[in-house]
Amino acid sequence: MHFLNTKDVDLNALIEAALRFKRGEDRSQPLVGKSVALVFFNPSLRTRASMQVGIYELGGNAVVLEPGGTSWTLEHRAGAVMDGDKTEHVAEFVRVLERYCVAIGVRTFAALKDWPEERTDPILSAFAKYASVPIINLESAMHHPCQSSADMMTIREKLGEGRKRVVLTWAWHPKLLPMAVPNSFALAAAQMGHDLVIAHPAGYDLDEELIDTSRQLAAGAGGSVKVTNDMDAAFTGAEVIYAKSWGAKQFYGRDEQDTITRAQYRNKWIVNERRMAQTDDAIFMHCLPVRRNVIVTDGVIDSRSSVVIDEAENRLHVQKAVMKELCA
Ligand code: CP
Repeated sequence: MHFLNTKDVDLNALIEAALRFKRGEDRSQPLVGKSVALVFFNPSLRTRASMQVGIYELGGNAVVLEPGGTSWTLEHRAGAVMDGDKTEHVAEFVRVLERYCVAIGVRTFAALKDWPEERTDPILSAFAKYASVPIINLESAMHHPCQSSADMMTIREKLGEGRKRVVLTWAWHPKLLPMAVPNSFALAAAQMGHDLVIAHPAGYDLDEELIDTSRQLAAGAGGSVKVTNDMDAAFTGAEVIYAKSWGAKQFYGRDEQDTITRAQYRNKWIVNERRMAQTDDAIFMHCLPVRRNVIVTDGVIDSRSSVVIDEAENRLHVQKAVMKELCA
């Protein structure tokens, strides 16, 4: 079994298990004498630190690898003629690592060049295809399930169980960013049965299939998913504000066009005190790292409404619960 997204996971059970770790009720060490590989194609603070600490606390050993840095460059395409700059294929990389390690975590962001290809999560899928040990998604082109699981745990901790009015809002950022975090947040909020409103400017739609799946999951769990281009309307009465920037699909491979188009939203699509005052005393959430006074004002992120550090802490507890389930 892999942990690639939250769609097929019992999120409530995962959160319960994570809460037992957080409260100190679960001190089990299912990884004693075992190693877990952590493969980072991209930078990280929270994911890397929380996985390494989590593996240590479960009694195990973390093997951190950075393809193209501290390990060989990797090819993932089946049938590739490897006469370019890629030294090793994922097929061998994975099959060697699993002789040493009981699970493999992988971080591989979208290259933001080719939407039809990247929406299939090609590199993560190659790891899952060749692996016979569990693959843990540490953020891929399309999903960040460790983050969204920690986000749902944080909402439950702060606001209690049950359906909440949750807003996922786009915000202006100087660069085109991937969609993994908003995708996973939408899926997970739907699974939990929240009433989710996704706010973004026209043209910044998330993946249609993912929205359809989220709507089905929400309907099955007693919640709903709505999409709006009106940020202020979305904030009215909300209990949770989750901010994230992401790039428009049509601008993958066309960064300059994206920069020109998004410039009109600077200082307009931002989470600020005026907007937070429209909410029902909402908590403010962001996966971090966040650009202050770009995505969110200092006044909001430093306010008592902000739970961003708790979200980051909950990554540790959720990931321990995931590893215990997959590797015990
Ligand atoms: N939220 C998150 O995944 O943080 P890092 O990119 O620092 O790991």
